[in-house]
Formats: sequence, structure tokens, C-alpha cells
Amino acid sequence: MADVMNIQGHVRLGSNAGQSMTRRDGVLKVTGRATYAADNRPEGVLHAVTATAGIARGRVTHLDTAAAEAHPGVVKVYTPANRPDLAVSPDEKIHGFAWRTEALQDDTVRYAGQPIALVVAETLEAATEGSHLLAPRYDADTPRIGLDGGVPFQPETISIGRPPSLEVGDIDAARTGAARHFETVIETPAQYHNALEPHAITAQWTGDRLEIDTPNQAIGLAKQSFAAYLGVNPAHILIRSPFLGGGFGSKAILFGAQLLVALAAKDLDRPIKLALRRDQMYGPVGHRPATRQTLKLDVDTRGHIAALEHHTIAVASSFDDFIENASNASHSVYATTALRTTHAGIRADTGTPGPMRAPGEATGSAALEVAIDDAAYALGFDPLEFRLRNYAETDPATGMQFSSKALRECYAQAAEAFGWQDRPLEPGSMKQGRLLKGWGMGTAQFPCPMFQAAAHATLRADGSAVVETSAADMGQGAWTSLAQIAADGLGIDIDRLEFRSGQSNLPDAGVAGGSGHTATAGTALFNAGADTIRQLAELALNDPASPLFGADNAGVTARGGRLYRNDDDTRSEAYEDILARAGLDLLRGEGKGAREGEPERAMFSHGGVFAEVLVDPDLGQVRVSRLIGAFAAGRIVNPHLARSQLLGGMIWGIGFALQEEAIHDVRTGRFTNADLAGYHIPVNADVPMIEALTVHEDDPFVNSLGIKGVGELGVTGTVGAIANAVWHATGIRPKRFPIHPESLI
Ligand code: MOS
Repeated sequence: MADVMNIQGHVRLGSNAGQSMTRRDGVLKVTGRATYAADNRPEGVLHAVTATAGIARGRVTHLDTAAAEAHPGVVKVYTPANRPDLAVSPDEKIHGFAWRTEALQDDTVRYAGQPIALVVAETLEAATEGSHLLAPRYDADTPRIGLDGGVPFQPETISIGRPPSLEVGDIDAARTGAARHFETVIETPAQYHNALEPHAITAQWTGDRLEIDTPNQAIGLAKQSFAAYLGVNPAHILIRSPFLGGGFGSKAILFGAQLLVALAAKDLDRPIKLALRRDQMYGPVGHRPATRQTLKLDVDTRGHIAALEHHTIAVASSFDDFIENASNASHSVYATTALRTTHAGIRADTGTPGPMRAPGEATGSAALEVAIDDAAYALGFDPLEFRLRNYAETDPATGMQFSSKALRECYAQAAEAFGWQDRPLEPGSMKQGRLLKGWGMGTAQFPCPMFQAAAHATLRADGSAVVETSAADMGQGAWTSLAQIAADGLGIDIDRLEFRSGQSNLPDAGVAGGSGHTATAGTALFNAGADTIRQLAELALNDPASPLFGADNAGVTARGGRLYRNDDDTRSEAYEDILARAGLDLLRGEGKGAREGEPERAMFSHGGVFAEVLVDPDLGQVRVSRLIGAFAAGRIVNPHLARSQLLGGMIWGIGFALQEEAIHDVRTGRFTNADLAGYHIPVNADVPMIEALTVHEDDPFVNSLGIKGVGELGVTGTVGAIANAVWHATGIRPKRFPIHPESLI
């Protein structure tokens, strides 16, 4: 019997991973054959439309359900008076990643756009008309809107379980010794995810079994939530979520109407479909809340930060505790001997905010990078030189070593590509025609969490394989990069791999979020493949008929569907031959992905982002004309897709800096721009010459595969870089995002 523990190095990451491959689901998508939740049309499907509140605070006193139900085609109208009961209150947090939701539990209006009724009809048109006929009447209170209109409260935890404040070192002592004190207050607005695909659900019962088509970033958690709220055995729920048209955090949570649709489908014994309208996604499905952030920097005579404080006030809803954890973005970027961060909430009459691409990090790094730039200029330092002077060699928040940190290389590569060395220090000193030109930079940083994931791998008699994990593809290319890792775990070519995902009856792939999906689900898939090949190797090494017999401690290596002896590369055997001789049709392995124990290193991905802007001195209009970032994120599984993620993040940064904001009418609490005509995001004309470079980084600590993450990194750093370029062009320091033209003239 070969000692399996001594079979070293039999699979390696590298032959499929590391290659640029285009999205394997690309053809399905561009030919319209990829099925999204709202594309499902089960036999006899009914259509649901939510009616939403036109006030932000108060009570619904009347709904004309009789008029709605009399409309031809309308089947039933659900209101708080007749809605089916949930098994547990939607106010209950059934797990750590659940947000309180609204499922018509009462007639209270907590925000404008809150669902107040669900109209179910034979056609979408009838359901829509029915929802209009409800003509709600209200008992309205004055809404509490925004940072200055709401009720302050102290959060006990920040979003998911983190303490709301941190203090390291002695701030007051450090401040006394410092030469200069800087204070910057930065405001960021409410932003909405605006995924291209609206939130949707199709629900269908067969007896006590429920099938759900809905886009979700965490299918396993979604199943748990549906099961708990509906009181259904989780084994009787099947969720399909193969493709998402973008999620960005808003599809990591359930919203109440999803539960209602499932309940109504049972009540009416018909399948029901609901797809939110664009304007209905402003409220019930999360958003990035407005913040006001105060940065305090104390710097000594040599330009070293002695003390750093970051205090965030963020809007929250009146009925849940999500807080944008912006101050945490200052924990680990710059070296300091004393650090203090806090968060406070303002309860307003708004839908509950939630995670939105780089939640906390995007907002917090925008403020931090502006504050750093401000101090650098006041002290006469080039902004890059000042950042290098304050380069954190260890993590200021924990004192731990970084698992890896190639930020210096990122700065150097991006600065070189940008031509930063030619930058004059003085603002307003560069022109292009009549336009003011400015150059700015920012540091990108994002943590490297890992969640829990599981996967199965099955090797078939012909040497091909199938892997299974519940992962969804949000458009980022998970179907491709995860398959690359899985193929490497099995030591086969990716063309020999069938990748099954997007369903809740597969092993749980964890959350596609936190930039941790490739690392987490990828590790599970790799381990499942490696487990399979370990079993295969054991068969061969114990079989005198195998050329691998006796390799034992030297071990074997798997590649291209064959096992090779490490002590003699000319002796190898194909997987199918090993299986055939053992009389096996299938060989199955399992794998998990998670971080074991408490981390002993600080784990972050990093980058340096450099921006050039052109500002019209008369109109205040800002155009980003060049944007170059260099990023270090551990092992890059697929350079093509990683670049696309980083560019996407940087483009999001352009929107954050210059365009995105949801504007409330403070009198009614309603949005004035709840659509893509009024809520501006960058289009092609707003995206300049843009490049994302990646810097080589080996990380032996972050996880066994050395994978960090790239989904959210690009937006951090970019917002500050653009704001700092605007300052350099104009001499006006932006203090509010998005930067409005009128603030520059
Ligand atoms: Mo995200 S905000 O990690 O989906």
C-alpha cells in the first residue's frame, strides 16, 4: 500500500490557470441562449407586479383592491390584509448575512418605493394596470432624509459582525509630537447598483417542492433563507441561478417580494414571475448609503504620519443596522503609530443600504486618498513620494506582517507607464489648449476574505471529468476562471472538463462577493480535483501492472490527463487506463475551500492608480483623459478576465468621482432620478484611454493557491486619483462626490 501522504506534488496549478481565456459562456450570452431568471416561462405562468409607496414615512390608509381585482386578467391582489404568513417574521435575521426585509407585514411605510401590494395577473400588462388602480391613500409623516434629516444612533457592529471602532496606540501623545495637523471632511452620496438585469424571480410549486429561478450571488444562503422564511424543508427547494446580469452586492441578499411571490405561487397553485422595473430597484434591494467622513492627520517634520483618525457617519434605514464601514479603509494603507476609527449611523426613511462593490472600501478610500493628497501638497511633497514615505511595512491595525504586498512595484509600474515623473507640483500649472490639465494618484487596497465553499469532482472512464459547485456567474467570468482552476486540480485540459454550477442542489460555492469567490470556490474545486487524482494515484501506485507501480515516495505528477512518475518522467499512464484496469466507471473526489483558524498575516490586494483630467475653466466640466492602474493581487488565474474586472472597477471609480448620485426630494423622500436617464453612470464617451496592469505577486499565506481577488480592487484608489487630479488641474480641493461642475467655477 502506497503511503498516500507521501505522494507529493501530484497536481499543480498552472497549465490552465494563468492563461487568458475568453468567457466560456460568452457565445451563449451573445446568442441569447443564456437563460436569466426572467427568461423562464413555465406553463401557465402568472405575472406579478409590486405596487410601491409614494411616500417615505407614514401609513397606507386605503388601497382600492376592488378596482384592481375587477380589472380583466387580474387574479389576486395581496396586501397586508390578506397576504400569506411567513414562517418567521421578515424582521428576523435568520443568519448573519440576512437583511430585514419587507413582505407586506404591516401597513407602515418605511421608505419611498417600498412594496405595499403585490398584484398577480394573467399578463404583465394586466398586473401593471391593476397596480395603478390601487390608488393608495396615505397618512403621511414628514420624512427624515439624508445625513442631516435623520436620527443619530451608535451601531454595535458594522454590517457583518465587525466592531464599529478601532483604536491603536496613543492618539493624543502622537498628536502632541507632530508638527502639522490636517482635517478634511468628505461627503459621498447614495449610490445604486443599477445592475443591467433587474431583480427577478420565477417560482413554481409541485406539491411541497419549490423551484425558484432567481439571480443570487450566494445560492446556498438563499436556499437557507427561503427555507426558513417559508417554513419549507431546504431539501425541497431548488434554486437555479446560472447567470446574473450584474450583482455588485445587491443580489447577495433576499428581498421581501421574492418571498411573497413564492407564497403567492403556492396560494394560487400557479407559477408566478416577477421582474422589478428599474425604478423599483431604488429602495428594496440595497444601495450604497451617503456618508460624511472626517479625516484627521498629524504629520511630523519628516512627513511621517504620526496619528490618523477616520470617522464616518453613514445613512442607515429606520429598521435595520447596515452601516457603510468606510473608516476601515484607513486601517491598513499607511504607516502610523496611532490610529482611531469610528462609525455612527443616521436612521433615515430609506430602504436598507447594503453591500455595493467595495462596500466601505470605495467610500473610505476616496476620502482617505483626498486627505493624504491634501497633506502631501501642504508639506511640499510629491503625492507619490509622500505615500512612499508612509508605506506600511506591517499592518498598522493589527501589527501583523502582510501575507504579500507588491504595492511599491504597483506604484513604480503605473507611474512609469503614466509618465508621473514629469509632474509639476504646483496646481493649475498644466494646460491643454484652454483646458486645465491635472494629474493625481491614489492607492488601491482591498482585503482578501475567504468564505466557505464545497465542490465535487468526478473523473469518467474516458478520462474526462465533471465538477460541481453552486457558483453563479455574475458576468465576471466565474464559469471560466473557476473551470480553469478545476481543470488544473484534475490535471486535465479544460476542454475535457464539464463545469456544472448555478444550482442549489450542487455543493455550496459560498458567496460570489467580497472579491473572495475565485479564492474560495476555486480552492474547493481544486481540492476536489486533487482528491480525485490522489485516489487515482493510489490505485496506480499499488498496481504491479501500472508503470507507476513503486513510484511511492518520489510521487507522481498529473498533467494532460496522465500521471507521470516524478523519479522517471518517461513512465506514465493515462487516467482512463488506470480506471479501466481497476474496473471503475467513475472516481469521485470532494473538496472544501475556507480559511482555517485565525489569520496570522494581514491579507490585502493593492494597486496604484494614476489619473489625468481636463477641466473646462469656464464650465467646470471634468473629463478623465487618461487612467492607468497597476495592481498586485496574488496569482492571476485568467489575465484577460482579471484585467476586465480591474477596468470595470476603475470605470466604476469614474462614475463615483464624477457622476453617480441618487437624489432625494427631501420634501417627499422620493428619488428624482430613479432611472438610467437621470442616474448617470460612465458610458463609452466618459471612459478615456484606460489601462490596468498586473504586477507579479507570489503569496504563500493567503490560501493554498495564492489567489487574492480583483473584483473590487479597481474602484478603490481610482476615485481619489481623479479627485486629486481635479485639484492639481484647478487648485480647488473636491470635498464632495460626485464632483459637480459648479464646485469648480
Ligand atoms: Mo460584493 S459588494 O462583494 O457583491
